[in-house]
Amino acid sequence: MTMFTINRQAVNVAAEPDTPLLWVVREHLKLTGTKFGCGIAQCGACTVHVDGEPTRSCQTQLQDVAGKTVTTIEGLSPNASHPLQKAWIAEQVPQCGYCQSGQIMQAAALLKDNPKPTREQIIEHMDGNICRCGTYVRIISAIERAAREA
Ligand code: FES
Ligand code: FES
Repeated sequence: MTMFTINRQAVNVAAEPDTPLLWVVREHLKLTGTKFGCGIAQCGACTVHVDGEPTRSCQTQLQDVAGKTVTTIEGLSPNASHPLQKAWIAEQVPQCGYCQSGQIMQAAALLKDNPKPTREQIIEHMDGNICRCGTYVRIISAIERAAREA
């Protein structure tokens, strides 16, 4: 059993210690907002926060989060009221939507550490999150809006 905290709740998960955190989140805990894209830390679809840091859950093992705090898109705010979630709606960012929870989690880590990032800082921070639908311009606009309106 591995114990950790996820979205403000303590959990005890019975799985092999090397199980990818992504599978624990999706299959054991049924938090399906976090997506599987590439499985090799190259796309960002699976991004969650571990102790506040953006982390690719496909390449993180269950044993790596023992005693730590994990946040998924479901736990980013109690009622989808995070400034980024509101900005994402206002800017109508998603197309297919598949990459978007990872995009928002990556962006949330930026605004936590740097509430007023420059456009260049946004682009650099979001560089590893791929969107097949090419919503990059709207993603940047939404992050700028969230920074403005937070
Ligand atoms: S699924 Fe984890 S980075 Fe692509
Ligand atoms: S919205 Fe489709 S992959 Fe990003």
